Amino acid sequence: MKAISIFLVQLVLIFVISIFISNTHAATRTQFWPKMCASCHDGKTAMSKEAMRGKYQTVTVFSEAVQNKGGRCMNILKNDKKMIKKVANEIGLK
Ligand code: HEC
Repeated sequence: MKAISIFLVQLVLIFVISIFISNTHAATRTQFWPKMCASCHDGKTAMSKEAMRGKYQTVTVFSEAVQNKGGRCMNILKNDKKMIKKVANEIGLK
């Protein structure tokens, strides 16, 4: 009887831990470009990510461009430096 309850506790623990791991994993995988930028930056409304990759060589130059040259419609995004850096990495800048 005791062995079975220890086994059950272990099962529950593994279950809880695996949910925790899969959640943190999903969080690091979240892509910002498709959610935050792609709807406008499709190459028609505004320049595509391929065009940006060609125009901006580094994360720093890219971040400055987002903040200084980005459209007014992007104002809500401009203070989130972490997100901008992630987007830069997503489109292939180092
Ligand atoms: C609501 C639409 C919209 C969204 C969302 C948007 N942009 Fe923009 N973006 C624009 C427009 C329009 C321009 C062109 C502004 C101009 O020419 O005056 C622009 C310009 C830019 C520029 C400067 C391009 C140049 O002329 O060199 C960069 C860099 C940029 N966006 C990056 C981003 C990133 C990164 C995101 C997502 C975090 C994003 N934008 C989200 C509409 C948007």
